[in-house]
This record gives sequence, structure tokens and C-alpha cells, in this order.
Amino acid sequence: MLTFTFPIFSLLLLSSSSTATAAQPYNATDYYLFDYGSSTTTNSDRIWDNPSVPQTPYSTTRIFNTSSFTYTFPVSQGPKFLRLYFHPAIYSDLKPEQSFFSVSSNGYSLFTNFSAFLTTSFLAKTRSNARVDRPLVPNFVKEFIIYVKDAQILNVTFTPSPNSCAFINGIEIVSMPEDLYNSKKRKSVGVTNGPVIDNKMALENIYRLNMGGGHVSGNGDTGMYRSWGPDNNYIYSAAIGLTPVYDQLKPIMYTTETPNYTAPELVYRTQRSMGSQSDKYNLTWILPVDSGFYYHLRLHFCKVVPQYKRRLHICIGAAKGLQYLHTGANRAIIHRDVKSTNILLDENWVAKLSDFGLSKLGPKDQTKNHVSTVVKGTIGYVDPEYYRRRQLTVKSDVYSFGVILLEVLCARPVIDLGLPDEQVNLAELGRSCYRKGTLHEIIDQNLSGEIAPKCLTKFGEVACRCLNEERFARPAMDDVVWGLELALQLQEDDEKTGEMV
Ligand SMILES: *[C@@H]1O[C@H](CO)[C@@H](O)[C@H](O)[C@H]1NC(C)=O
Ligand SMILES: *[C@@H]1O[C@H](CO)[C@@H](O)[C@H](O)[C@H]1NC(C)=O
Ligand SMILES: *[C@@H]1O[C@H](CO)[C@@H](O)[C@H](O)[C@H]1NC(C)=O
Ligand SMILES: *[C@@H]1O[C@H](CO)[C@@H](O)[C@H](O)[C@H]1NC(C)=O
Ligand SMILES: *[C@@H]1O[C@H](CO)[C@@H](O)[C@H](O)[C@H]1NC(C)=O
Ligand SMILES: *[C@@H]1O[C@H](CO)[C@@H](O)[C@H](O)[C@H]1NC(C)=O
Ligand SMILES: *[C@@H]1O[C@H](CO)[C@@H](O)[C@H](O)[C@H]1NC(C)=O
Repeated sequence: MLTFTFPIFSLLLLSSSSTATAAQPYNATDYYLFDYGSSTTTNSDRIWDNPSVPQTPYSTTRIFNTSSFTYTFPVSQGPKFLRLYFHPAIYSDLKPEQSFFSVSSNGYSLFTNFSAFLTTSFLAKTRSNARVDRPLVPNFVKEFIIYVKDAQILNVTFTPSPNSCAFINGIEIVSMPEDLYNSKKRKSVGVTNGPVIDNKMALENIYRLNMGGGHVSGNGDTGMYRSWGPDNNYIYSAAIGLTPVYDQLKPIMYTTETPNYTAPELVYRTQRSMGSQSDKYNLTWILPVDSGFYYHLRLHFCKVVPQYKRRLHICIGAAKGLQYLHTGANRAIIHRDVKSTNILLDENWVAKLSDFGLSKLGPKDQTKNHVSTVVKGTIGYVDPEYYRRRQLTVKSDVYSFGVILLEVLCARPVIDLGLPDEQVNLAELGRSCYRKGTLHEIIDQNLSGEIAPKCLTKFGEVACRCLNEERFARPAMDDVVWGLELALQLQEDDEKTGEMV
């Protein structure tokens, strides 16, 4: 048996500081990239993922016909990704019919009597049946997870079958967080038996798919260089569902159970959804696998409910700002130009009122509740009573704030001249729908399915009271804040149990 331990200087060993080109959620503690048979070891551009361009590491190979051959890598304890890169071309010393071999690592048998040539022709066949044409490529990567114990050695042993040669084009080893695939920390659904994933088990990656999205290369991963393929090649039958994309500007909220290295944001931004027709059809993926093994299926979900609760928090923040203006100082300040574009958000999505260019001090004489002044403001937001009577009060701001609430809910312009007459003015439309109980028909489609009915009713009530024609019937901002906080509470209560509109 020939054992080969690579001296460290012939490996492309990248320390964590040099791998971190950009801030990544996970920084590898062990990272080896080795391009076999190459005379140089300077490659570090990591464009290996693009399978249509045979290049590093595929352009060079190491062929061995000895009884067995072992690479030994010194690494830290813990789980590692082991990636084996193959490009089964006809090299001068390598013939397809003489290329069967076994690979093992740290006591785990990874392949037995394996033919990279047969594997590529299988891949070519399955890809040519695929829905989307992709170039037929003769190279592929096999990815395993090996748990390295306290000996801190990762061995990879190639054993040619009788009268055969083994070959390899590239090996990559990347550390990973201890708990990434540890099944104890994940919720299992519908699993009643089967092994628990622990450090006595080696895993092989069979599929890693980005649902509803495209290919995500290793460089786009969270620091472990996993690549994610599109799922559309595997969808069975004509039903393909919908593939909405979550707004690029909005952050993906990771949690302590699902930390930011779990999967890249791009994976969570795209989805395949059954939309509102989910009771009318089935969505099915067919993923061919080998029989005789256990398969661990991990499903990544991303709930985009914040989209709505975040809007509610922003409304509450803005309402508190206005409440402070009206009541905080010893004389009320009337903003006079309350509109959505005057609400600024900081990096924590906290609302700030801006543009006090038109603001006015409230009446000095506390027995009067208005100041007489020319009408200023923005069309669509201006209090109709102020407009008619030239009397400005804090309730004029309350009216404008009611318009903002509808804007947040419906995500449409406050005046839209392209619509039928009865829908042009959002304030009028909102009040009429609220009275008829049809508010859910005009809400932003992006919020569809996210709002608890009780929350919507409360929110609509607050907005419509703000929009009352009579300023005396409009609530003070204290009441508005209180009403919106109640709406948020109703939303949170229902998220635990209830149905959404
Ligand atoms: C990932 O999360 C960790 C811990 O919460 C944080 O320190 C780090 O900045 C995050 N990294 C990125 C790229 O978001
Ligand atoms: C990874 O390294 C980068 C650059 O050194 C650093 O900004 C980042 O916080 C590190 N991330 C973790 C999770 O340690
Ligand atoms: C291995 O390959 C070398 C070089 O091609 C050749 O000389 C040798 O005979 C081969 N050995 C076996 C056991 O096939
Ligand atoms: C790695 O291989 C060497 C040489 O064959 C052997 O001595 C050592 O026990 C192996 N280590 C592991 C963890 O398999
Ligand atoms: C390896 O597979 C080939 C092709 O199926 C077969 O001809 C050969 O006998 C197998 N060798 C071993 C050692 O199983
Ligand atoms: C609704 O979703 C679409 C698609 O993701 C996006 O382009 C649009 O900006 C969203 N609208 C709002 C108001 O967030
Ligand atoms: C969807 O699949 C389930 C379970 O296989 C089946 O009972 C149901 O009839 C299917 N529905 C449609 C619309 O095909």
C-alpha cells in the first residue's frame, strides 16, 4: 500500500483571513483546495462550480494504478465537507473500461467499484431529459460530510479495482459549523424511525436545490462553498406553481435556531409556491436516488410575515412621533404635511417624521383648538375640513395619518387618476370598503394570507376613524397609537393559531 502524505507547502491552504473576501456568515477554520496533477498551486479563484467550462481543477488529473493510495490532511476536529472533483476524459493512461475504483475516508466507504465514466453518462442522460436545456458536461463533484475525531486527520484512500486505475482531478476540504446537519437540533416532520445524524455517520450530498430560483454557485454560499442547483429540472407534470421573489431590499431574518450560515439569502429569497390554488393541484418533484440507503431530506422555509408586521411596527413608530409633536411640547406642533414620503426609516426600520417645512405651532390660546391659515399640504392627504374652513388643528394631521395607514395597507397611490371614479381617492375608497366589510379586497396582494382578520378589522377601524369628515370625531394620536398596538397584539395572537386573510 502506498501512503502519501502531502507536505503542507504543496497544498493550497487558505487561512480564514484570506478566504474572507467579503463578510460571510461562516468563516472556515479548515480550507483546502487541491488541483491534482497540476504543476502550479496558485489557483484560488474558486470558479470550479461552473460545470460548463472544464477548467481548474478539471484540466489536470492524477491517475494511479497502485494497489491503494491515501491522501492525509491534517485538520481540526469536527465535521468537514469533502468534495471530490472528477472529469472523466480519456487521458493517455486512463481508459473507461479500466477505471473502476473504491474511495474511503476515515473508515467510511464512499464508493465501491465506482466508474466516473458511467456516472457522467448517467448524468448526461438525466439532464438531456430535463425540462430546461443545459450543456451536457462530463465533469461532476461528489460531496461528503465526514466527522473528524480527535486524531485530527482526514484520510482519503483510492483503491483501484483489479486491472483498473483510479483517478482524481481535485479535492476540497472545508470545515462547517458543528450543528449544521446535526439532526438533534432540527425539528423532524413525519419521521418515526431511521437513524439520528451524529458524529458516527458520514453523509453524501445527493441534491441541494434552490427552489424557484437559479443556480447559486459555491461563492454565493454562506462560506462553505456549497452549490445550489435550480429545482425546475425535477418538477413532475405540468403544474409548476408560482415562483415569487422576496423583495431584494428587505432583509432575511435569521434566528438562533436557523443562523445566517444555514443557507444564503438568495436561497430564501426565491420560492416555489402553490399560490391560492393549493387545494386544486399537487406539486411534485421526482429525485432519482439509489435504493438501500437512508435519505435525510432537509426543507428550508422562510416566512415572509414580517412584511406585514414590520409595516405595522413602522405605523406605530410614526404614530408615536406624531403623538409626541401634538402633546409632548407645551404647545402642540402641527406638522401640516404628514405623508408617507415624510416618514423616514433608519437602518433598524424605526420610523422618523421628517420635513417640518410647513409645520405650525398650535393655538396659543388653549380655549381655541385651531389656527386660521392658508391651506398647505399635499393633495390626497389634506384634511377636507381644513381645506373648506381654512382652520388647521392637530386633527388635520390625524386625517393625513389615516391616509398613510390605508397606503400602507393597500400599497397604491393616494390619488390614482387611472382608476374608475369611485376608486381614484384612496381615503374615500378605504372608508367605503370598510363600511361594506370588503377591506380585504383592496389590500396589497403581497400581504395576501398574512393578516389576521381581527387585526385587519382593528386597523381599518383606526384608519377610518382618522378619516372622519368631522374633525371632532377623529381620535387623538394617543388613541391611534393605542389602537395600532392592539391591532399588532391581535395579529400576534392569531399567528399562533388562526387563519389569515
Ligand atoms: C451572522 O450572524 C452572526 C451572529 O448573529 C453575526 O455576528 C454576523 O455578523 C452575521 N454575518 C453576516 C454576514 O450577516
Ligand atoms: C468572518 O471574517 C470576517 C472578516 O474577517 C468578519 O468580518 C466576520 O465577522 C467573520 N464572521 C464570523 C461569523 O466569525
Ligand atoms: C502502472 O502504470 C505504470 C505507468 O503507466 C506502468 O508502467 C505499470 O506497469 C502499471 N502497473 C500496474 C500494476 O498496472
Ligand atoms: C490515516 O491513514 C494513516 C496511514 O494509512 C493511518 O495511520 C491513520 O490511522 C489513518 N487515520 C484515520 C483517522 O483513518
Ligand atoms: C466492477 O464493476 C464492473 C462493471 O459493472 C464489473 O465488470 C466488475 O466485475 C466489478 N468489479 C468488482 C471487483 O466488483
Ligand atoms: C410586491 O411583490 C413584488 C414581487 O416581489 C415586488 O416587486 C413589489 O415591489 C412588492 N410590492 C410592495 C408594495 O412591497
Ligand atoms: C394530490 O395528492 C394526494 C395524495 O397523493 C391525492 O390524494 C390527491 O388526489 C391529489 N390531488 C390532485 C388534485 O391531484
